[in-house]
Amino acid sequence: MNDLRPLYDRELLLLGAKRNVVLDLWEVQRYGSDSYGDTDYISIYGMRPADWHAKGVRLLGRTAVECTRDRLGDAIGKDVAAIVATRPPSAPAVVVDPFAGSGNTLYWVLRHLPGSRVVGFESDATVFRLTRHNIAALALPIDILNTDYLSGLASISVASDELLILFIAPPWGDAFDRTSGLDLRRTTPPITEIVDFLLHRFSQNRLLCAIQVYEVVSPVSMAKLRARFDWSARRIYELNMPGQNHGILLGTKGWAP
Ligand SMILES: C[S@@+](CC[C@H](N)C(=O)[O-])C[C@H]1O[C@@H](n2cnc3c(N)ncnc32)[C@H](O)[C@@H]1O
Repeated sequence: MNDLRPLYDRELLLLGAKRNVVLDLWEVQRYGSDSYGDTDYISIYGMRPADWHAKGVRLLGRTAVECTRDRLGDAIGKDVAAIVATRPPSAPAVVVDPFAGSGNTLYWVLRHLPGSRVVGFESDATVFRLTRHNIAALALPIDILNTDYLSGLASISVASDELLILFIAPPWGDAFDRTSGLDLRRTTPPITEIVDFLLHRFSQNRLLCAIQVYEVVSPVSMAKLRARFDWSARRIYELNMPGQNHGILLGTKGWAP
């Protein structure tokens, strides 16, 4: 007998009928099992789907696909904290995710850098409302604003002695190709453009950028991005099949670890 149920995959949740729909728990679990063979794949805020759902956390289809899940967020948070630990002790860090989505990367960076001021910008009103609701349900000290990344970054105030940490993961749009990988100049908006804006806007601050990359990246786009920083290093997290892993490019300006 044919199984006629729809496949819970990236196509259905990010581009199809479930994009702007709040998912039921079984749908989150089915996305995990259909797409990754793991009903708990969308673990976020340090919890499995059944646990976060029981606490009132809810996700849209698109955010289930776009979010940084726990295993990746934890690895990113650890690496960011390890770089921060190499700087001379001074004022606490300010952590900003200009494309906050679920806010789960902020959650993990905060876990590894407790006491930091943590702010996220999210331009989509529906994603923003749910993320704000989730953060309130879990009583997390994370400030999420419903704003475009440019307006958010233009208006945030950061003291000149504060280290500014940015996690940069804009939507990939058509920047990703299964064969040639990710072109960092073609995300929406382009990562190179975002970094240029940051370096200009925060020219008086010490910056640490953690930019989400993929195992396969256009080498030219990577070279152009790294050239903008004083120091940079790439980390790939082996959580998926070889060739399908995410990672970060760490880049500093105004200081070097
Ligand atoms: C890949 S997701 C981010 C994942 C997120 N960092 C996390 O921890 O789960 C990208 C998010 O950026 C939002 N976004 C897209 N363009 C934006 C913009 N110009 N300004 C602010 N947010 C934007 C999208 O609505 C989406 O929720």
